[in-house]
Amino acid sequence: MAESGTLHDAFLDELRDAYDAEKQLLKALPKMAKKATSEDLTAAFETHLEETRGHVDKLEQVFGALGEKVRGKHCDGIAGIIEEGKSVMEEDFDAQTMDACLIAGGQRAEHYEMAAYGTLIAWAKAMGHSEAAELLEEILEEEKAADEKLTELAEGGINQAAADEEHPDEDEAGEDEEPTGKTTAKKRSAPKAAAGSRR
Ligand SMILES: [Fe+2]
Ligand SMILES: [Fe+2]
Repeated sequence: MAESGTLHDAFLDELRDAYDAEKQLLKALPKMAKKATSEDLTAAFETHLEETRGHVDKLEQVFGALGEKVRGKHCDGIAGIIEEGKSVMEEDFDAQTMDACLIAGGQRAEHYEMAAYGTLIAWAKAMGHSEAAELLEEILEEEKAADEKLTELAEGGINQAAADEEHPDEDEAGEDEEPTGKTTAKKRSAPKAAAGSRR
């Protein structure tokens, strides 16, 4: 193989990949916001959509700082994560479970971005591209905050609401019809049914 590519070339490649990933997320986030039932979750996706628009702008500034043309290169990684998220959104889950799944998908995307920006920052610093590194750090901070916000929502009630969700068929086979001790799952969920989760 020819050995002419440098870290700078690899860096530009990753940058184009990140730029394309942000553009893909601009299309995916509104769908996730729409699919979410929890108002807080919808708001979190909408806020991050706004931030994602800012990431596109900041990446354009990074290209500018490097004297490079703004260019994207199809990001297969984020495309796969978005594709998986899409299949989950087509599942017939109850609303609480769907919210928990949307958080799971959203966090996969954030972690992918965090890994990408972590590498880009380290490489930019190693090559002395300090302006680029600063801009990339600003993006990384927002990715981390978005990830933390999703954790907060999941642990602050959405996961538990999903775990406590009772289904009509389970309601019919209620506690009184279960004289044996094999009711572990129901025993766990029945007493904690969240307000509004019974149908
Ligand atoms: Fe982003
Ligand atoms: Fe993000």
